Amino acid sequence: MLADHTAEQALHERVVRRQGEWERESRGLVDPPLPSDMLQPWEVWDKDLFDLEMVRVFGRSWVWLGDTEDLQKTGDYITGNIGAQPVVVIRQEDGSLKGFLNNCRHRAAGLAFKPAGHCKALACPYHAWTYGLDGRLLSIPDMDRMYGPDFPKEDYGLVPIRVKVAFGKLVFGCLSRKAPQFEDWIAPLLPRYEKYKIHTFKRYHRELDETFPINWKAFVENSNDDYHVRFVHRRLNKVRKQMDTIVRFEGRTTSGYKPHSANFDMSAGRTDLSEEDLRGSYAEFVYPNLTPLPYASQLILVRVDPIAPDRSRLFSRIYGLSDDLELQNRELDGLELTNKEDTDMVTQLMENLRSPFYRVGPPSTWEGRAHHMMRLIRRDVATPLDPDEFDGPVDKD
Ligand code: FES
Ligand SMILES: [Fe+2]
Repeated sequence: MLADHTAEQALHERVVRRQGEWERESRGLVDPPLPSDMLQPWEVWDKDLFDLEMVRVFGRSWVWLGDTEDLQKTGDYITGNIGAQPVVVIRQEDGSLKGFLNNCRHRAAGLAFKPAGHCKALACPYHAWTYGLDGRLLSIPDMDRMYGPDFPKEDYGLVPIRVKVAFGKLVFGCLSRKAPQFEDWIAPLLPRYEKYKIHTFKRYHRELDETFPINWKAFVENSNDDYHVRFVHRRLNKVRKQMDTIVRFEGRTTSGYKPHSANFDMSAGRTDLSEEDLRGSYAEFVYPNLTPLPYASQLILVRVDPIAPDRSRLFSRIYGLSDDLELQNRELDGLELTNKEDTDMVTQLMENLRSPFYRVGPPSTWEGRAHHMMRLIRRDVATPLDPDEFDGPVDKD
């Protein structure tokens, strides 16, 4: 079925026109001689732009939702969000996973409410339409009286989405049928990630989940900035050779590498990874909203979920080889501190970006990844979804 994207196009034209007007009218107080593609004031507080990002960035992206530890038995489910769209992934009777929009087909009510849970069927709390684990609409109370006997029940099943279990563990979802397969999505990182043995890592006993007064792109910019690390996370300077940072970006992924100091060893005795992988840390990014920090013995994932132009949720988990709760707590506390150092900084930037008169400066070499991500986001925002973006099978992954 061909979709009509005229409304999004009009929204985009309005955003571009208004941004141009703001830019022109507020020009001149700050006069940057060099061009900059870094995040600009009107990109963090424009609600129309935010709405467009929910369609054009998140409508065509793979987003990390959780992991298979929560999806062991038939009927186990996890819920999550792809931009503004709630989704649910459920373990099927045949052992496969299926993903759906977590919305009833009658009104927008949610169907699964816990971050992770178990169900026999999905019964809507509003008017009790009930769906099977495979998404089929099983029953409508008093269907004959409410709709008549000819109601096409078979056409009102849950709306399926694409689901990918990556590295035998991590669950990703995608609304678009046209987006590349997940392996292509993360192609530059794939060969190395296939070697980490992520399926052998276990989830640490708690996660970090907090909401901050920041725009999701402001966190993306910070997360792809290798320049601030030496100053904002000073305590890490003794374990990393900061000045030997290597910045890489390609396609939808980026990678900032810092070699470890001689006395800091995160190799966990492994010899099946390259010298570079064993002797340093990668801070990476997977478009549009995931920061993975992989090591030989653990994987940290930090996801930023957009809630509003000035509100984002930061959700972090650590997966690793150690069962030691004390060690897990130490590492989780360390991650919490790093997240706080970043979000404190970004919160301050956000407040100052409320001024339309300000213009940001050019990216340094070590902000190349951030620059790359800002360009990808703007490219997607400027590109309408395919007329048949949502046509085609969901089971090709
Ligand atoms: S909203 Fe689900 S049955 Fe009405
Ligand atoms: Fe940081």
